[in-house]
Amino acid sequence: MLLINPFKQSFRNPSTRSIFNLRKKKDFGICNPVTVGCVSPERPVPESVRKPPYYFKYMPPGNTIGEVEIKSSEQIYRLRASCKLAAKILHSCEDIVKVGNTTDDIDAFVHEKIIAANAYPSPLRYAGFPKSICTSVNNVACHGIPDNRPLMDGDIVNVDITTYYNGYHGDCSKTFMVGDVDERGRYLVESTQECLMESIKLCSPGKPFNTIGKFISTFVKKKNLGLIPAFIGHGIGSYFHGPPEILHYKNSMPGIMEPGMTFTIEPILTLGGPDIEIQEDGWTALSVDGARSAQFEHTVLITQKGYEVLTALD
Ligand code: MF3
Ligand code: CO
Ligand code: CO
Repeated sequence: MLLINPFKQSFRNPSTRSIFNLRKKKDFGICNPVTVGCVSPERPVPESVRKPPYYFKYMPPGNTIGEVEIKSSEQIYRLRASCKLAAKILHSCEDIVKVGNTTDDIDAFVHEKIIAANAYPSPLRYAGFPKSICTSVNNVACHGIPDNRPLMDGDIVNVDITTYYNGYHGDCSKTFMVGDVDERGRYLVESTQECLMESIKLCSPGKPFNTIGKFISTFVKKKNLGLIPAFIGHGIGSYFHGPPEILHYKNSMPGIMEPGMTFTIEPILTLGGPDIEIQEDGWTALSVDGARSAQFEHTVLITQKGYEVLTALD
């Protein structure tokens, strides 16, 4: 989610960019840049499916500042079931993320699967979001709205699925490669997945949350990649976004992991610079320099011994 309370502006504000910035344009590899497209009407959700409160009345995004909830075994059981459902559906997207299919086709496919499982697609109507999933292609950093753009050979597309099932949200995403992706693109996608998996391995009781951001900053430097710092991981449960805030860059935020805490980790790595611009639709975050980025996300539980990836496939 978008960091709304940055304790430190460690990234350049787009408004400070100047026409006198004489930097050589970097080689970002080959891709077809994306702009915003046409969005289809909201997909219906049957009466029988349990809906989150924001379905009935507009609400602002959840507050990620404050006490971190320690979940009971009953809560963990329910959250795990929602996470497994999201992960299974995300995995099945392999079949539909193909050249010629639109991101709206992916939205339709996932929407149907979620409804068929008697669950609700969490993004729909969340803080006014119009579709059931987020699809972020090439230079879209995140929160892309599924539209009528057909996928092209060489695209990279992040599909972010969150299900609301038995009263709990399970959140995960991965970046798919469409057809023949160039070498820079493959390097970006593979490195981003590695970055997420390695940062999860650092999770255990007693560890500061800021261990994650510290690791990611070192990782991207080593890989000669960039980082988009404006989007954070978040606590999750009966709410979509809650405490703690998981910053994906070097920081000194307080807070220690404890058994029963559940949160997401969802770093966005880029071939270019850190700046993004939110489009007029209020969501689509485009990279200012047109560079591609990739993102992977898991929902993680802190256990007595370490961690459990709740959105892992069984
Ligand atoms: N799934 C996104 C996340 O990882 C949140 C999307 S909010 C939406 O936090 F409204 F854009 F769907
Ligand atoms: Co997500
Ligand atoms: Co998330």
